[in-house]
Amino acid sequence: MQPHGSLTSKIAADYPWAASPLIVSAPMAKVAMPKLAVAVSKAGGLGFIAAGYHSDHLEDLLEEAEDLLLEGKGDAAVESEPGVPKFLPVGVGFITWSASLEKALPSFSKYCPAAVWLFAPPKGFQDLIPWVTKIREATSSRSKIWVQVGSVSDAVEVVNAIDPDVIVVQGLDAGGHSLARGASIISLVPEINDKIRQLRPYPKKQADVLAAGGISDSRGVAAAMALGAQGCVLGTRFLASPESMIAHGYQKAIIDSSDGGISTVRTTIYDKVRDIHGWPEGYDGRGLINCTYLDDLQGLSEVKNRELYREELSKGDMGYGPKGRLTTYAGTGVGLIREILPAGDIVKSMHEGVQKILNGQRQLKL
Ligand SMILES: Cc1cc2nc3c(=O)[nH]c(=O)nc-3n(C[C@H](O)[C@H](O)[C@H](O)COP(=O)(O)O)c2cc1C
Repeated sequence: MQPHGSLTSKIAADYPWAASPLIVSAPMAKVAMPKLAVAVSKAGGLGFIAAGYHSDHLEDLLEEAEDLLLEGKGDAAVESEPGVPKFLPVGVGFITWSASLEKALPSFSKYCPAAVWLFAPPKGFQDLIPWVTKIREATSSRSKIWVQVGSVSDAVEVVNAIDPDVIVVQGLDAGGHSLARGASIISLVPEINDKIRQLRPYPKKQADVLAAGGISDSRGVAAAMALGAQGCVLGTRFLASPESMIAHGYQKAIIDSSDGGISTVRTTIYDKVRDIHGWPEGYDGRGLINCTYLDDLQGLSEVKNRELYREELSKGDMGYGPKGRLTTYAGTGVGLIREILPAGDIVKSMHEGVQKILNGQRQLKL
């Protein structure tokens, strides 16, 4: 394991089991469950459990995470001692336009996850004030507040509204939902870093900035660090791990895909056919192009497309891939993913790969 050398002192203090650079598995709705999150944290990263659109089973999910953390060793194993308040070295992510803060609060008090990730508030970042106030109250500020944003103006708004601990800068390459219009992390990360450090009065927490979107291997992680990110969030790469809760057909489609800028697209049709409504204006989702999208492009009605989607569900694994219809959210980095790897090995390969890249650069300077 790498020493904490290049982690900011704040990150090293808040996530003491984590190695440098901070590698995070995204809270992916319906996909990122305790097994994935715990495997990532145990390997020296930070894994997020997706509460996703609702908070109904949060207590069960955190209890499962605690059991997994108590099992066996790893950098993030927990010891449960009577009388000592709990602290779980995993995070929980919420899609805040639909999730319920009130339902989630008792679980925060009971389990104190290391971080709470807030995404897509219904109207604006002011909507997050009750979330942040109550989470900080319930956990004595031990659960750190992470917010995912996709533009410079949103980053400024979020810092002014709630002074988060971490800003996850989500570039347009990201798999799953994000702003429909935006930029890649190559300009977003440095511009957001510059902008928030110039804010006056100076924000108290000086949020750390993490990069998300299109990062699938250690070269992407090293590049994000060069842009000024203090760590990286990966979603699509972790879809191709045995710990992620997705169908084999979905995983096969990820492994088989290449040229992500061409084989994926941002659209709202993949939500519409699944009857998911209510995303705030300006959001859509990136997924592999399949017949649902192509037929929508050709003018097939939403009603008919949904009907065909429902029929396709009965095909199971065969319903995925370019000739299928089932939603296969994935980022543009999909072409770099060639094999299914245990989540812990993915984290380790990122750390080792970055170290090699940095060592190579040092030698070049000699
Ligand atoms: C299948 C899938 C589901 C996702 N679900 C969520 C979610 O529930 N909440 C959220 O904040 N982000 C979600 N995201 C977006 C991630 O937070 C992250 O921005 C993205 O995965 C990063 O890009 P990458 O997939 O190219 O690594 C999802 C992404 C994927 C691929």
